[in-house]
Amino acid sequence: MLEATKSCIKTAFLSTLPCLLLFIFLFSFITPCASQDRPARETTIVFKHGKIAGDQRAFRAIIEEFERRNPGIRVRDEVLPSSTDEQHQFYVINLEGRSSDFDVISMDVIWVQEFARAGWLRRLDHVFPPRERELFFRGPVDAVTFEGGVYAVPWYIDAGLLYYRKDLLERYGFSPPDTWAELVRIAKEITARETGLYGFVWQGKQYEGLVCNAMEYMWSNGGGLMADGRLDALREENVRALAFMHDLIHEYRVSPELVTTATEETTRHIFGNGRALFMRNWPYAWNIFEREGSAVKGKVGVKTLPSFGGGPGASTLGGWQLGVSRYSKHPAEAERFVRFLTSYSVQKELALTVGYKPTRKALYLDPELRKAQPFIAGLRRVFETARPRPLTPFYMMMTQVLQPELSSVISGLKTPEEALRSIQRHAGRILEAGEPGRGR
Ligand code: GLC
Repeated sequence: MLEATKSCIKTAFLSTLPCLLLFIFLFSFITPCASQDRPARETTIVFKHGKIAGDQRAFRAIIEEFERRNPGIRVRDEVLPSSTDEQHQFYVINLEGRSSDFDVISMDVIWVQEFARAGWLRRLDHVFPPRERELFFRGPVDAVTFEGGVYAVPWYIDAGLLYYRKDLLERYGFSPPDTWAELVRIAKEITARETGLYGFVWQGKQYEGLVCNAMEYMWSNGGGLMADGRLDALREENVRALAFMHDLIHEYRVSPELVTTATEETTRHIFGNGRALFMRNWPYAWNIFEREGSAVKGKVGVKTLPSFGGGPGASTLGGWQLGVSRYSKHPAEAERFVRFLTSYSVQKELALTVGYKPTRKALYLDPELRKAQPFIAGLRRVFETARPRPLTPFYMMMTQVLQPELSSVISGLKTPEEALRSIQRHAGRILEAGEPGRGR
């Protein structure tokens, strides 16, 4: 019985042996093919960026798409606070300490000069060659260029815009304002009749956003901080512009006192909840207002900022650029990711979903984008004419002077003359110590 079983097993083994050998033979070919899809070595790059105010899932899907197209590279995105000043502080501390904990850095338009001068960024001339640069808006390209080299690729662009409640203006028979005086008049009339509605909200907290706002009033009154590459703060146009900002709150009372502590997101929430008639903000807010369930869906209009009359309004140039840390251990993979995020198709996807506005000019003619966001066509001109803050590696030192001075004007602690005199004295010294600023 035992013998019979043994011979049975032996026969079965001998009859399956050829199959087994064939299988081993084939497997030896199949295995290397399979491992080509899943590379032996996986590299993780870390991408640091500010909080995404728009559609987070869409942003994550874009990163996953990169990973799918680049087997072997994983991206860990690490979120920093939304405030530009806090993000700047994080980078200064970590890059001073030569940290290699992150590879791709998202930089505000005002930092690239400083970071490039400090030697914290890899040169990206090969990633962003001259013929590519022509396809992008001029302002951000200037911002990423330092002493003839390119140190980042413009990712998305910002410029200050006026948001208004279309429905309310129509109901009371007004057109959107072209001058600041009109804005005040309309805001006063409508808020007198609509309870619980603020007239005009903007960013007045002591931070970089306040500088962006203040520049727009000064420029739209024919002033500005710089003239011919030199600081010229104490000008009558600037005095009147800052006095107007103060008066919006304390004299005309169309802006609530809370604007003196408000950031982009504070004002976006107020306007988005239907509690303000006008708002100054960057373009990202529009997509959020048009989302399903938004209290102001279909009720929001967007236009260029007003002026003091006579000249055109002015927008501050903002936006974010992608660079690669000098201390990255995976520069090739990091550059690949920068190329991907700044490509035509990804910029388009980000515009459609998250609301970030493309730095590539051709996208403003893209039929799909224009259909989804009809006002985008008009934005091309706003971005072309948006004005840079002084382009100098010492800008962050300069803004440390500007922020408290501007804040004390809108809070009524200093007169515009006092603040501008102090800016002239202290910011002037900073610029003289470095290179002359090239901004306006
Ligand atoms: C936006 C702009 C940036 C600006 C900041 C101020 O993020 O893109 O350039 O410095 O707002 O809060």
